[in-house]
Amino acid sequence: MEERLQKILAAAGIASRREAEKIITAGRVKVNGKVVKELGSKFEASSCRITVDGNPIKAEAKVYLLFYKPRGVVTTMSDPQNRRTVADYVQELPERVFPVGRLDYNTEGLLLLTNDGELAQKLMHPSHEVNKTYLVKVPGIVPQEKLDLLRIGVKLEDGMTAPATVNLRSYDHERNCTLFDITIHEGRNRQVRRMCDFIGFPVRDLKRIKMGSLTLNGLSRGKCRPLTEGELRELKKAAKII
Ligand code: URA
Repeated sequence: MEERLQKILAAAGIASRREAEKIITAGRVKVNGKVVKELGSKFEASSCRITVDGNPIKAEAKVYLLFYKPRGVVTTMSDPQNRRTVADYVQELPERVFPVGRLDYNTEGLLLLTNDGELAQKLMHPSHEVNKTYLVKVPGIVPQEKLDLLRIGVKLEDGMTAPATVNLRSYDHERNCTLFDITIHEGRNRQVRRMCDFIGFPVRDLKRIKMGSLTLNGLSRGKCRPLTEGELRELKKAAKII
């Protein structure tokens, strides 16, 4: 992915973006042996030799984090409406990560954060069919025929949904609500909510509990942890990178 030179320098820990701009305009930066003074210039950091005062910069380390997004958080790194964002939870991190895909403002659960653009793109592509499992709470008792509709596929305004795996978990008498999980591999906007609207059982609570082989097990709400090497390998396999 091509990025502005000042962003590349900041990501490599050379200086803040503003300081990096001064370093560039001072003519201290060379890309593939040529001085670059223009601030808008974009480069692919991994395929260029970039030096500052003759010293090569180090590429930004790749970071892969599993984040338990709470409800009431926007899946972006900044929000014009000043709502709480994912960025509020990774302020201490030196690398700049971004979310892979999105969860609605009111959906909680597993979100992958990374600075690996290639992996993010592959995971989000429907052809890679990475399974995502959601825990769904809806009001009332859901008849099996309605769950079967979700299993077979329902007609939404952007087309039929692919077959889904649905498991009925429990019915809560006191609160009169049904809990089930649904596994889909598509990543359409508000897909699970729209599927549940279709069968006449609008979602009360929604939580993503699994993506590929990653789960939320052991992680508290609002916390992140790095992926283990094994988890990363599995994820890359799922994205068909290895
Ligand atoms: N489906 C939804 O409806 N919302 C989400 O946040 C994720 C999947």
